[in-house]
Amino acid sequence: MKDFAMHDESTALNRHPQFPSLNGFTPIHRAAALERFLGTDVRIYLKRDDLIGVGGGGNKLRKREFLLGEALAQNCDAFLTTGGIQSNHARASAAAAARAGMSAELFLTQAVRFRDDDYQLNGNILLDDLFGAKVHEDPLLAAQNRAQEYARLCLRACVVGLGGSSPTGCLGYASCAREILAQQAQLGIDFDSIVVASGSAGTHAGLLAGLIASDVDNIEVIDFSVLARAPAIGDNTRALVTETLKRLGHSGDFPSEKVVVDDSQLGESYGIPTPMMMDAVRTLARTEGLLLDPVYSGKAFAGLIEAIRSWKWAPGASVLFVMTGGAQLFAYRTALACM
Ligand SMILES: Cc1ncc(COP(=O)(O)O)c(C=O)c1O
Repeated sequence: MKDFAMHDESTALNRHPQFPSLNGFTPIHRAAALERFLGTDVRIYLKRDDLIGVGGGGNKLRKREFLLGEALAQNCDAFLTTGGIQSNHARASAAAAARAGMSAELFLTQAVRFRDDDYQLNGNILLDDLFGAKVHEDPLLAAQNRAQEYARLCLRACVVGLGGSSPTGCLGYASCAREILAQQAQLGIDFDSIVVASGSAGTHAGLLAGLIASDVDNIEVIDFSVLARAPAIGDNTRALVTETLKRLGHSGDFPSEKVVVDDSQLGESYGIPTPMMMDAVRTLARTEGLLLDPVYSGKAFAGLIEAIRSWKWAPGASVLFVMTGGAQLFAYRTALACM
């Protein structure tokens, strides 16, 4: 196992400005009760990014460290971003911007067909208001127009696109990859695979770029897509890995088969629950007392369970599932009532 110097100021990662949201590493622990329930000899570990201590936690906070760092370095006054009405990314942006003393404006669209009060008023949208963000029912174009209005007032707004998955945002998960490598050395584990949910692909791309940049070749990163079919997500992920690697001072070349995307859990479409997702959410809640969200990590966890049941890993293999958080469970009360 390699020894990784996590706070080496000379690393390419630390040359990018950051606005810290994390208090040290998020925990990794073994899900022994889940393993017993599944009757598996595969060791299942959980990376608890749901415990990141700002704004309700989740993967979006890691991206925000670099996105806000860049915005502050550019003297931006406002952080504008876009997403669905229940966007975790928008909620995390609102929270992190509040903490950085910037205003946040969210341009949200009806990405999913649910129109009940739970979906429209609870979950992330409730929190957006709490964090003081201004919410518009408009798409990205309106955010860009709004940025021009700021410019006319001699103020600066930075516009962040879908899911915060720009190469800058991906650096958050390149940093997480280094964190995981340091933790596996501390814990004496050799992970065979890291499993994660993928939407705008930045979490997967950042993790893979971080591993490649650290010359780690023996950990596979598998994503379960919840947004689109594998070819589209795969292309997007490969492009983001290349750009993120370049930010890390790497040539950007890597074998394209390293990008592993599984769309078997997507179901009807983005944000629409599936019976397997519901089963996975209940299983983790009832074995480990832990929460998954119905849109991202619930579907990805269903994929993990399915992969274990179909013997993807040999007995004794170690698999790390990234708990990416998400505040949508209560917004899905009506939608999940009949499942
Ligand atoms: C809870 C949760 N998990 C996973 C993801 C997927 O991350 P990415 O968009 O970087 O693929 C998201 C994205 O919104 C999310 O909110």
